[in-house]
Amino acid sequence: MEGITIVGGTGAVGLELLGILAGRGIAPGRCRLLASPSSVGRTIPYGDGSLSVAAADDATCRSAFKKSGVVFFAAGSEVSGRLAPMAVECGCVAIDNSSAFRSDPACPLVVAGVNESTLEGFRSPGIIANPNCSTIIALTAIAPLRKLGRILRITASTYQAISGAGAAAMAELEAQARAWASGDRLPTEQSGRQMIFNVFSHDSPVDVDGVNEEERKLERESRRILGDDALRVSATCVRVPVLRAHAEALYLEFDRAVDPRAARAELEAAAGVEVVDGPDGKKFPEPIDASGRDEILVGRIRRDSGVPEDRGIAMFVCGDQLRKGAALNAVQIAEHLRLL
Ligand SMILES: NC(=O)c1ccc[n+]([C@@H]2O[C@H](COP(=O)([O-])OP(=O)(O)OC[C@H]3O[C@@H](n4cnc5c(N)ncnc54)[C@H](OP(=O)(O)O)[C@@H]3O)[C@@H](O)[C@H]2O)c1
Repeated sequence: MEGITIVGGTGAVGLELLGILAGRGIAPGRCRLLASPSSVGRTIPYGDGSLSVAAADDATCRSAFKKSGVVFFAAGSEVSGRLAPMAVECGCVAIDNSSAFRSDPACPLVVAGVNESTLEGFRSPGIIANPNCSTIIALTAIAPLRKLGRILRITASTYQAISGAGAAAMAELEAQARAWASGDRLPTEQSGRQMIFNVFSHDSPVDVDGVNEEERKLERESRRILGDDALRVSATCVRVPVLRAHAEALYLEFDRAVDPRAARAELEAAAGVEVVDGPDGKKFPEPIDASGRDEILVGRIRRDSGVPEDRGIAMFVCGDQLRKGAALNAVQIAEHLRLL
């Protein structure tokens, strides 16, 4: 069997990837872990054993890629932009978690369970882009509803977990909680702010129109994945002091009347989705329940009375963005292509 390389294997997404690969019974001998020079010499638990980390310098990467069939990138856009083409030169399929190739028409942008059909024309070697985590979570829940009519507009408000900003931000949130409890100064070196007991705009750059990059990703990537350039997408993305799993309030406008009961039935039948929607309104998706889960939890499914002619559906979703929003989706793409 061919090798599997993970670039960024020590980070939040990389560690989740390792957990999923070990859970699928992939032998440790097939896996190579690369990270920044500061992680060289570290060993990372894998299944019953461990893997050692090497530096992602050009020579080590080339050597690892030559022994691999698939390379998962989880080290940010700069690293992917530099090294994914090298992986392709070495004959690999590169599956990239960063945004480096998401707008490149030569690189399929795939949510497993939604648009794998775009992989039909894909020939190895090449680069496949994993979409933005909020987009994957939203579209996994939205796509099954296309059976009920054409979706004209998506309005999304996100409540995004701190782990979306990486392992260091997650560690800082925990450190802030400890410092708060002991009355110490809150550490803010990573985030630059108090996260605990706070809610703040997504920490990505804001463009001249006042839209942050996460909101733009939801717009651009939703249109591309759903294959509808006319789809209107409005988003407000914020972070909340949750360790992992994003929540999203989604409002959908259809081209015809849609019965919320029909929407619920479609979601109950959909793979990768679990309806959590108590009739008394007290049972609904929560990040804590979505954490560590493969499924996107969907609830609060109701008519959006702000859309005329009964053409609106509102719902609330939660999904583990390290899992389906990143690592699991990447593994599912590799499985679809029989690369594991
Ligand atoms: N976190 C999420 O929920 C999420 C969801 C979807 C997509 N993504 C994307 O996935 C990627 C990784 O995110 P993350 O949250 O896992 O970040 P992270 O926790 O900060 O991990 C970053 C990883 O990249 C490695 N790295 C940093 N600089 C490197 C270099 N020059 N060469 C090689 N490796 C380097 C780090 O190694 P060291 O440990 O040695 O520093 C670490 O393994 C990003 O592109 C992110 O946008 C993240």
